[in-house]
Amino acid sequence: MFENWRLFLLLLLTAISFVIVSQNRKRIIGENESFLGNIIENCGERNSDDYFLAVEPNENIMNVASNQSYKEDYYDSKKCKIQDWNKNETNTIPNRDYFDSLIKSNVRNQNILLNKTPSPFSAYVYSDHIVVTLTSERNFSDVVFCRYYDCKMRELTGKYFESRHFPQSTVFCGRRIGAEYISITEKLEDEAEFPIRIIRRDEKKPAHYFTVCLAPIYGEEPKFLQIVDFIEYYKLQGATFFHIYVTNVSNYDRVLLDDYVRTGEVEIIQIHDHYWRADFMWHRVQINDCHFRNKYFSKWTAFLDIDERIEMKKYPELRIVDLLDETTPNVSTLRFSVDWVVKDQLSPKKYQNDEQLKENMIFRKFTNTSTKTDTFKQPKCIIRPERITIMGIHYPLAVYDNSKVSIVNYRIAAIRHYRNVFHKLFPRQVERMMEYGPWKNTTVAPWIAGNLTTNILRRVKYLYDIEIPSDVIKQENYAKEESQMDLEKIEV
Ligand SMILES: *[C@@H]1O[C@H](CO)[C@@H](O)[C@H](O)[C@H]1NC(C)=O
Ligand SMILES: *[C@@H]1O[C@H](CO)[C@@H](O)[C@H](O)[C@H]1NC(C)=O
Ligand SMILES: *[C@@H]1O[C@H](CO)[C@@H](O)[C@H](O)[C@H]1NC(C)=O
Ligand SMILES: *[C@@H]1O[C@H](CO)[C@@H](O)[C@H](O)[C@H]1NC(C)=O
Ligand SMILES: *[C@@H]1O[C@H](CO)[C@@H](O)[C@H](O)[C@H]1NC(C)=O
Ligand SMILES: *[C@@H]1O[C@H](CO)[C@@H](O)[C@H](O)[C@H]1NC(C)=O
Ligand SMILES: *[C@@H]1O[C@H](CO)[C@@H](O)[C@H](O)[C@H]1NC(C)=O
Ligand SMILES: *[C@@H]1O[C@H](CO)[C@@H](O)[C@H](O)[C@H]1NC(C)=O
Ligand SMILES: *[C@@H]1O[C@H](CO)[C@@H](O)[C@H](O)[C@H]1NC(C)=O
Repeated sequence: MFENWRLFLLLLLTAISFVIVSQNRKRIIGENESFLGNIIENCGERNSDDYFLAVEPNENIMNVASNQSYKEDYYDSKKCKIQDWNKNETNTIPNRDYFDSLIKSNVRNQNILLNKTPSPFSAYVYSDHIVVTLTSERNFSDVVFCRYYDCKMRELTGKYFESRHFPQSTVFCGRRIGAEYISITEKLEDEAEFPIRIIRRDEKKPAHYFTVCLAPIYGEEPKFLQIVDFIEYYKLQGATFFHIYVTNVSNYDRVLLDDYVRTGEVEIIQIHDHYWRADFMWHRVQINDCHFRNKYFSKWTAFLDIDERIEMKKYPELRIVDLLDETTPNVSTLRFSVDWVVKDQLSPKKYQNDEQLKENMIFRKFTNTSTKTDTFKQPKCIIRPERITIMGIHYPLAVYDNSKVSIVNYRIAAIRHYRNVFHKLFPRQVERMMEYGPWKNTTVAPWIAGNLTTNILRRVKYLYDIEIPSDVIKQENYAKEESQMDLEKIEV
């Protein structure tokens, strides 16, 4: 009710000021006066500095604007200013021979999804090439064309680059001076799908040491507690950034994700394209994109699902980054096996109170754990992105420079995998898990349990346990707002 009333007032004020401004504008143009100069005049006795900081009254702004020597050496409405990083042109892609040999051996040739066009997803510029990731998974190794666009999304005509759709859902392109957007077409004469902005990854020194790629989020089970548990857990393990792919979450859960964007710890990548697919079919595309997104962004990147927590078992006082510190340089991949934890209850939809939240924290509530381990069952990896050629869901399918995959001894570290036993995506998923008994009660290290409880509570309460004042205080507050608005109205 009050919300509407305030909105109405706000709209009214906006409308009034619009009318005033547009009347001024008419008069200004009619009298060849300066638009800015005139507003300042109209402000009369008011201290105009409060509202129009550093405005320079100009007698004749139109003429000034057309005076070439007055123009700043920067963007204008027609031309693009080419940034220093964007002055490179290359006509080959690195490792072409290696790619050709991988194409011959058909590495990761899928033809599953229904896309009829390449469907560009994201693009990354490295020092001597550009990678475009696609949401299409067809046309393995077919010829395609990279098409380049300037800062105003005008095609750089004649500047195309012929390449191949390889690896799956990926096209390597040459660089073009001033290219800020890029698209991919199968034929040169095809109309390109919307060009996408090229993201810089041209600094070889990554900004991060350890980041996490989270598999697409979707499905009915409420997510906020799982998300905050996942993020705060890996922050304790030394992760400093998360790429989170979202198919669909509730508005309530989105508040939490958006807040991590606010604090600069998360980038949300919303996934969607023109063609149908079931939600789980986004996984390969997400892995592929997140691999290239982290190349020269982070030294190490983990590829995980929302229910997976890598933990140090033999030295529980250590963190994952301590393990990474100790890893020899010839290793580009650490592969972890799984300890299953039975998750036989859904997480709550909303925060109610601290006790309810604590009781439902995943690592507190679910402790029934498998004991048998099998290295090849559902492993997940932490990789050095720039040393991997093709990343799969469970391990790399091709690497550069003969770097090694290290299979981490499960007694040293493994993944605590909280398997939801209701939402069965694949047949026999739960039955297969049951083969890993006998089951025993295990808990996370005490320092993690303590800090994680504190950190989850702090974040969740900040966002969802909003301080709401009494109606009396609200009324007083509305009244103050109202008088402030009246004041502004008089001044206009
Ligand atoms: C406004 O400028 C135009 C073009 O310079 C001129 O033709 C016109 O006479 C001017 N009008 C007034 C009211 O000064
Ligand atoms: C154009 O702008 C420059 C810089 O303000 C000024 O020195 C010059 O006199 C202007 N020329 C004309 C024709 O207005
Ligand atoms: C341009 O490409 C070359 C390799 O062809 C690379 O060595 C150089 O660092 C690149 N320059 C920039 C500004 O990215
Ligand atoms: C890509 O694959 C689709 C489906 O198999 C096919 O219809 C289309 O013609 C292919 N495009 C090219 C350029 O081969
Ligand atoms: C998105 O998620 C919400 C919350 O789980 C659900 O109500 C809605 O139906 C979902 N929408 C789609 C298109 O899946
Ligand atoms: C990796 O390097 C370490 C230390 O230099 C060495 O001991 C180990 O044998 C190497 N492993 C492989 C698989 O090359
Ligand atoms: C642990 O899970 C196993 C397998 O689902 C089950 O048989 C067992 O009863 C559970 N133990 C406890 C204490 O819940
Ligand atoms: C599991 O162990 C924890 C910590 O020792 C204990 O609080 C909990 O009650 C145990 N759960 C079961 C099902 O035995
Ligand atoms: C965990 O909590 C303790 C006690 O509050 C604190 O001293 C320590 O720095 C925390 N560790 C991490 C990694 O946040």
